[in-house]
Amino acid sequence: MSPQVRHFLRDDDLTPAEQAEVLDLAAALKKDRFARRPLEGPRSVAVLFDKPSTRTRVSFAVGIAELGGHALIMDAGSSQLGRGEPIADTARVLERQVSAIVWRTAGQERIEEMAAGTTVPVVNALTDEFHPCQILADLQTVREEFGDLAGRTLAYFGDGANNMAHSYLLGCATAGMHVRIAAPEDLPPDPAVVDRAIAIAAATGGSVTVTADAKQAAAGADVLATDTWVSMGQEGKDTSRYEPYAVDEALLASAAPGAVVLHCLPAYRGKEIAATVLDGPSSRVWDEAENRLHAQKALLTWLLERST
Ligand code: CP
Ligand code: NVA
Repeated sequence: MSPQVRHFLRDDDLTPAEQAEVLDLAAALKKDRFARRPLEGPRSVAVLFDKPSTRTRVSFAVGIAELGGHALIMDAGSSQLGRGEPIADTARVLERQVSAIVWRTAGQERIEEMAAGTTVPVVNALTDEFHPCQILADLQTVREEFGDLAGRTLAYFGDGANNMAHSYLLGCATAGMHVRIAAPEDLPPDPAVVDRAIAIAAATGGSVTVTADAKQAAAGADVLATDTWVSMGQEGKDTSRYEPYAVDEALLASAAPGAVVLHCLPAYRGKEIAATVLDGPSSRVWDEAENRLHAQKALLTWLLERST
């Protein structure tokens, strides 16, 4: 197995300096979309989905093509992985033919098993625990708005035991930001992720706050972020406990002047976010969705350069 391979399975797989390099490259690629062609050949990238996707599917397909490569997109239902073929066997087969593996799956342990079994970079395209590609796009969006990330405050509202909440904790702490999670007391983020974020923030000058008080979390924040209350696989769940955490005009009024609003999408207007906020002047969600393309192209380029 190559000792040089780099994976991106969770946000803290990049050091603060490395995260900044990827975000710098993402900004450069947004200005000049065809500046880097690491997949020229074309080399192929396997993009596997065990769960539905619109943005991730489109942005990886378009991004891999723009990097000069070919995206081999497979859904679980159409592959042997979906019929129980061992992850390790799939990893060994894929590495003989593709230059990287991008995977959206359920448990984090599944993508860790894939990475452990292959010599090509593996990228987390969302698991139950983390959504690190989304956070790179979000950080790119925040940079576009405010410049330096260090010292800025991002507050997230809603489901604390959630992949977006976990990735904000790690990704924002890595960027030296102050990250606040406002969630019902009995639905907090994973304590191990919170502890890891606190340790990262101690080194980067950021900070971590977990609270049940939405107003307190929003006070003076530069960025308000939320996510669906019903993640994929949780259909039918009772969402009434999340209602005090809806991102609406009143919550936005507590934020810093000029604050912006993020949502990874898909969004449910009138649930986790008011329509007037999602479609209003503070919303940056469409830039955020576009930035998936630039951030992931930068990430793939960066990982491939360090893994060969
Ligand atoms: N934000 C996001 O990952 O969207 P998709 O589920 O559509 O890929
Ligand atoms: N938390 C959501 C994110 C969707 C992009 C989910 O896992 O369904």
